[in-house]
Amino acid sequence: MTVYSKIVGTGSYLPERVVTNRELEKSVDTTDAWIRERTGICERRIAAEDEYTLDLAEKASRRALEAANLDADEIDLIVVATTTADQIFPSTACLLQSRLRIKGCPAFDVQAVCTGFVYALGVADKFIATGAAKKALVVGAETFSRIIDWTDRNTCVLFGDGSGAVILEASDTPGVMSTHLHADGDYADYLHVPQGVSNAHAEVAAGRAYVEMNGSGVFRMAVTTLCRIADETLRHNKIDKQELDWLVPHQANIRIITATAKKLDLPMDRVIVTVDKHGNTSAASIPLALDEGVRSGKIRRGDLLMIEGFGGGFTWGSALIRY
Ligand code: COA
Repeated sequence: MTVYSKIVGTGSYLPERVVTNRELEKSVDTTDAWIRERTGICERRIAAEDEYTLDLAEKASRRALEAANLDADEIDLIVVATTTADQIFPSTACLLQSRLRIKGCPAFDVQAVCTGFVYALGVADKFIATGAAKKALVVGAETFSRIIDWTDRNTCVLFGDGSGAVILEASDTPGVMSTHLHADGDYADYLHVPQGVSNAHAEVAAGRAYVEMNGSGVFRMAVTTLCRIADETLRHNKIDKQELDWLVPHQANIRIITATAKKLDLPMDRVIVTVDKHGNTSAASIPLALDEGVRSGKIRRGDLLMIEGFGGGFTWGSALIRY
């Protein structure tokens, strides 16, 4: 019998501090009107100085566990998608495991930048489908504000902090119907933080510890790639785009989101949009949007959702989910 993974709970968390476009006008040469028009972003949340990715991950996870009506110790797999881990090691997933007092289950991070949550979901889904796990905690958590140069108007207006989580449980009905994961490392320079660990001393990377981006190049690739992967997902499942109830896209730019919705012939009231309030929270953006869709009552049990993301790497991915 085929085993599927089903989403049985969602949760999310946003730091308290709201940073509006007007506030950014004071520190970089930009305007509220430019940011709204070119990106759809009005405000974003920024973590407090003593608040870290793990704190964000823990809050979203506890809310997802509560929604699923599960105790933490029932979880037998933890996958955290993040680009902004608190430590080089242990992984955020191991630190989260300890916070939640879960013992012994596998716990690891996945790094695929803004596609991180889709990758994490794809991996956890395969653990469940093969019987290696029964109840998985899958998290996207980011403090992207820590890798942003706040004097660079090309990037600082775009990003925010936050976290989202889902609990996946083994089920004999779908659930996650398919996941589609891709990457093309030839585009590494389009969107990157050059400084890492092994090259921190090297002239070419030292001091370049913030996001650097070819905005228009990323934009063009994101639109064409997300439209292509939407087609791939529908074709794979032999379903027509009319059957989709919701698109839950990565929230980077409202213009990228509307282009994908148009390709799917979906009116914008069938698309979960949070980019106006959250900005781009990287791996956290899709589970944050999903949780908002569920808690607002828009997304209901039995609805057919497509999630899709695009990010540094380049990486991109999608999933078709019967909620
Ligand atoms: N405020 C005002 N002007 C800004 C600005 C800001 N915050 N940021 C950039 N600009 C300027 C640039 O300096 C440039 O000026 P120039 O033409 O004098 O050189 C101009 O705006 C760029 O204009 P344009 O190329 O038309 O902008 P755009 O429509 O491509 O929008 C982005 C820029 C960054 C919003 C857009 O390219 C984008 O969203 N790219 C994808 C980014 C993304 O999603 N990254 C994460 C992917 S996961």
